[in-house]
Amino acid sequence: MPSQLASDAEIRRALTGIARLALHARSVMVSTGAGVSAESGIPTFRDAQTGLWARYDPVMLASYQGFVLDPANVWRWYDERRQVMQQSEPNAGHLALARWEELWRGQGREFTLATQNIDGLHSRAGSQVPIELHGNIWYARPLDGQYSEAQELAQCPLPELPPRAADGRLLRPHVVWFGEMLDSLLLGRAMAAAGRADLLLVVGSSSQVYPAAALPHAALRKGGTVVEINPDETELSPHVQHSIRGRSGEILPLLLEEIETLLT
Ligand code: OAD
Repeated sequence: MPSQLASDAEIRRALTGIARLALHARSVMVSTGAGVSAESGIPTFRDAQTGLWARYDPVMLASYQGFVLDPANVWRWYDERRQVMQQSEPNAGHLALARWEELWRGQGREFTLATQNIDGLHSRAGSQVPIELHGNIWYARPLDGQYSEAQELAQCPLPELPPRAADGRLLRPHVVWFGEMLDSLLLGRAMAAAGRADLLLVVGSSSQVYPAAALPHAALRKGGTVVEINPDETELSPHVQHSIRGRSGEILPLLLEEIETLLT
């Protein structure tokens, strides 16, 4: 049965237990969603009032079909989001994950961070090689090009919409749209890490979008322990061993504190 925690003392106790599991784990994985960036001021997708998909039409703005109908309109939306993200800073949750990774790598332990977020905040916080399953909004690639052709966009806001490559080809945002496959190399690396994870944390995701939502199930199938950190119940909650109800910017630093205490 998943544990449902209410009081601060219960949360602390659960975090001590999770820190112990981490210390005994050969391989740790963390999979993040939009909620981990909410405290940096970046809207999530499925919040009923403030979520992006409550206010905008994903078919027009986040699909190949919508893009070819009106590339400038789609780019305007991504450019506005880039401007919001440019003002945002990594929060205490991002920083705690980067520090955890640094500690783990320093001890020669495996730590994998996979994210559905395209905001780049994990890297800005110091995470070394986050697997960005849904791409990165700071990059673009030719509409008819390969994933590997992605180039960082130098300017924000963009001087011209839609932007074009030096050879005149139309550029698209380097993000995954509805109906598109994830990059198979990245997804393969993430699924393999999930299968190896003795401990996998799902932080700030509604766990509704596959294949990212399959990562914790891959860990569970191999006998791994899955912990969810989210203020709300999600579709994953009934399947996990521990549900910590709270904001990632508050819970992750507490967990890091527990880990650091056990390490000293
Ligand atoms: P959602 O918007 O679906 O879910 C965000 C989750 O974060 C919810 O479960 C919230 O309860 C939780 N949350 C909110 N604030 C939080 C906080 N401070 N700390 C922790 N959790 C918090 O976002 P994702 O699950 O990331 O895909 O959505 C997955 C994908 O759906 C996105 O990557 C995007 C979207 O369509 C593409 O664009 C391809």
